[in-house]
Amino acid sequence: MPSTVVVGAQWGDEGKGGVVDIYAAEADLVVRFNGGNNAGHTVFVGEEHFAMHLVPSGILRGRRCVLGNGVVIDPPGLLQEMRDLESRGVAVRGNLLLSENAHLVLPYHRALDAAEEKARGSAAIGTTLRGIGQAYADKYARHGIRALDMTQPELFRKKLAANLDHKNALLVKVYGAQALDLDQVYAELAPALEELAPLVTDTATLINRALDGGKHVLFEGAQGTLLDIDFGTYPYVTSSNPTAAAAGVGAGVPPKRLDTIVGVVKAYTTRVGSGPFPTECEPDLAEKFRTQGREFGSTTGRPRRIGWFDAAVARKSAMLNGIERLAVTHLDVLDQFDAIPICMAYRCDGERRDDCPNSLDELARCEPVYEEMRGWRKDTTDAKSAADLPAAARAYVDRLAEIMGARLCMVRTGPRRDQSIVIDA
Ligand code: IMO
Ligand code: MG
Repeated sequence: MPSTVVVGAQWGDEGKGGVVDIYAAEADLVVRFNGGNNAGHTVFVGEEHFAMHLVPSGILRGRRCVLGNGVVIDPPGLLQEMRDLESRGVAVRGNLLLSENAHLVLPYHRALDAAEEKARGSAAIGTTLRGIGQAYADKYARHGIRALDMTQPELFRKKLAANLDHKNALLVKVYGAQALDLDQVYAELAPALEELAPLVTDTATLINRALDGGKHVLFEGAQGTLLDIDFGTYPYVTSSNPTAAAAGVGAGVPPKRLDTIVGVVKAYTTRVGSGPFPTECEPDLAEKFRTQGREFGSTTGRPRRIGWFDAAVARKSAMLNGIERLAVTHLDVLDQFDAIPICMAYRCDGERRDDCPNSLDELARCEPVYEEMRGWRKDTTDAKSAADLPAAARAYVDRLAEIMGARLCMVRTGPRRDQSIVIDA
């Protein structure tokens, strides 16, 4: 299995970090290919909790890690994350490399993210306010500043000045916000530029050479399929492609070199931010999930919205990503229920439909059609193997795999490493 891609199959926060952490034990290289520090990947090492935002989770296993060209890097944000990890004894420098071609998230992107969200009023997307969409917009508009530019401070400052003129005009004249001062912005960035510049390299060559040499490369997706800029619930999406094909483009690896696609689903569904969510449940029920499932955003601390498992969403993800293996996380959160509904299809305008429509209006009119599975009412948090799972729990995860046409490869029943049941290595 020389290359494995791990992707989120719902609206993000599926528990990709924990799954990557398990696979990273066998990997040589761990590569992020999309998103930025809007991601929040939770990993436990012993009882210690790590919330990873940009640094790939493989760093906690001492693996060599890469931020690919498809990632957007906030230099001070990354430096802070690196320092936090290093202060806790994690070796980051020496193990982390940044793609020359990765675009940077700069202070004006964050300022514009805030201004645009405010201007949207009740139609706000509920972004993480990390400037992600604005950084990708500049990349595609060809105004972007890349990691490569960090290695040439004078050129960097020139590009920054030119962009800042334009962004300040937008901030002040369009949004009535405060202008940013060039010297101040540069001073804020300078230490990060200096410290990160030595990590910048041609990572596409590095990754392809590693594959040539038979190394195992693990691709760590961020966000989830329903947040995909092309296939998600647009405009309530992120601004990158969290889907599996993006591992190729976002790392510089030809599609035929991506061997195994692992999809990650929570045993139920969550979402942060705005946008349609057909299986979203009542606040009292959501609270039950939230307490057991630690359902607060690890990047913004916002309480996550919660609902039952949605098979229409899952099938769409299985198709778009080509999911062959399925990891089901947070199964323990369902230990408390007598019966567990799965939304098998929708009823929309009086008709049953099995697909998840692209039109938000249609999706908003979709009512879930539930099928009930038996609950197990037993604690699964100490299960060490598939045989330890109650029969009804095993039937539930098997049903999810069947819905997605994938082989079950892992079940997680808690955040700790030893709460992972690897079913099919
Ligand atoms: P991980 O990697 C869940 C959501 C935001 C918002 C929308 C757009 O932990 O799964 P953005 O800041 O990206 O412009 O916000 O996307 N979002 C996530 N939701 N998990 C994530 O990452 C997310 N990253 C962004 O809440 O709805
Ligand atoms: Mg997360």
